[in-house]
Amino acid sequence: MQKVITLIFFFLTLLVSASAGIYQAQKFPLGVDNTQRCLRCHGMHNFTYVDSSKTLVNLTVDSTIFFSSVHGKLQCQSCHPGITEYPHNLLAAGKTTCASECHATKEGKPYDHKTVYETFLHSVHGKSLTGKDPDAPTCLTCHGGSAHVVQPVKKVMKVDEKMALCVSCHSNREMMVKHKVDPNAVSSYERSFHWKAIHYGYDKTAVCENCHTSHSVLPPENPYSTVNTANLEKTCGQTNCHPGAKMNFAMSNANHLEFMVEKKPVLRYEEKFFYVLTDGTLMMLAVGIVLDVQRKFGWIFLIKRLFVWLDRKTDQLGNMIVKVLKFIKKVLVD
Ligand code: HEC
Ligand code: HEC
Ligand code: HEC
Ligand code: HEC
Ligand code: HEC
Repeated sequence: MQKVITLIFFFLTLLVSASAGIYQAQKFPLGVDNTQRCLRCHGMHNFTYVDSSKTLVNLTVDSTIFFSSVHGKLQCQSCHPGITEYPHNLLAAGKTTCASECHATKEGKPYDHKTVYETFLHSVHGKSLTGKDPDAPTCLTCHGGSAHVVQPVKKVMKVDEKMALCVSCHSNREMMVKHKVDPNAVSSYERSFHWKAIHYGYDKTAVCENCHTSHSVLPPENPYSTVNTANLEKTCGQTNCHPGAKMNFAMSNANHLEFMVEKKPVLRYEEKFFYVLTDGTLMMLAVGIVLDVQRKFGWIFLIKRLFVWLDRKTDQLGNMIVKVLKFIKKVLVD
């Protein structure tokens, strides 16, 4: 009897799983859109497991966010072409990265991020891609936590958000000192007119990436760097910035004033001298105005009158207070 029940149970379980369809072996041939089928499992909330090293692996892809991302029009297999069956052969499928070949086209042409990836790899931040520098940004630091949530940068990001991309690390003094990068990059930029304009609501001036680029940031000594002395005319002279900018203009260091001051300490005294000069001039101007008013209207006479008037008023006030006190005394004590 027990055996019969077990057998019935077994067949029932088989039937339920077969009709659910998800525990069966499945094929996902390339060339048809299998996205909805992938999402039957990966669209589930909390589709997670704990791997052998006891870390939680999250396999959920939030379909609402995915479809509204820049990759939302792609199929899952555009980026995961190695996954063509379930159970997945993950070893054969390999890992997908931003350098992987995209099995997709843009405006009818093959499209991939290989150029961006290569450029970035050779930039000052590129060591993150080879795992050599955990401090440097990866593609996902700036573009969202995963390939499934990337939002269009140009449309969505405001200037201050773009600036925040760089500031998050470059204002971290400890991290910068560790990497021998000048830790005053952000504070010195914040003394510039570019930043002040943005701070007071005008968003058409330069933030970090307009001068340094976002994918090919290089140290200023590097001849390919957009901020290398030889390339500054071109960088400042971008169409929307200062077309026709000449070397003198580009070298004015309106970008990071403090850097130039550090290099030439005499500039610090020059700055102090100009503070004294402007403050002094303003003070002389104020004294001049006071004297002028006195000559025309006789301020001193007016001030005397004011004191006489105040004197009389305080007398009256004093009398009033005495009267009030007398009244209170009368009511409470007498
Ligand atoms: C029947 C449920 C199911 C379906 C349908 C399914 N998957 Fe999976 N997927 C899993 C499970 C479970 C794992 C965890 C690893 C394993 O056991 O294979 C996984 C793992 C993955 C991983 C690898 C995660 C890692 O650790 O690297 C990718 C990528 C993936 N699936 C993509 C897809 C794509 C693309 C499709 C559609 C073509 C798809 N899956 C369809 C259940 C499913
Ligand atoms: C634009 C390319 C792209 C598209 C489209 C894409 N993925 Fe991914 N996916 C990636 C990358 C990159 C990774 C991270 C590396 C890895 O684990 O292979 C990843 C990782 C995963 C993982 C592992 C867990 C994780 O989040 O890291 C799963 C599961 C997965 N993708 C499923 C899907 C499913 C399901 C779809 C379709 C709804 C899809 N992917 C569409 C690029 C993409
Ligand atoms: C330091 C932040 C940062 C990092 C790191 C970064 N990006 Fe970007 N990315 C940006 C910004 C900002 C833009 C918008 C540029 C613009 O408005 O012109 C952008 C634009 C893009 C674009 C669309 C425009 C274009 O140039 O084709 C792609 C594609 C892109 N990034 C891919 C990548 C890839 C791939 C990586 C990693 C190899 C990466 N990004 C690393 C900040 C970053
Ligand atoms: C995730 C942290 C992080 C983000 C985000 C980041 N950086 Fe960096 N940056 C670093 C680190 C770390 C280094 C040092 C790399 C090294 O060791 O060579 C560096 C180096 C640099 C250098 C080279 C300085 C020199 O003289 O060698 C410049 C310039 C620079 N970053 C500009 C930027 C700009 C512009 C952005 C935004 C578009 C940005 N960074 C975003 C971490 C970051
Ligand atoms: C208007 C253009 C411009 C803007 C905006 C700008 N920079 Fe720079 N940056 C430069 C130039 C030019 C240099 C190199 C010359 C110098 O030393 O002043 C430089 C140098 C640097 C250096 C290298 C310092 C060194 O010598 O090691 C870092 C790091 C840096 N900038 C980060 C940033 C960050 C972060 C931002 C945004 C908060 C930013 N920059 C905004 C033009 C700019």
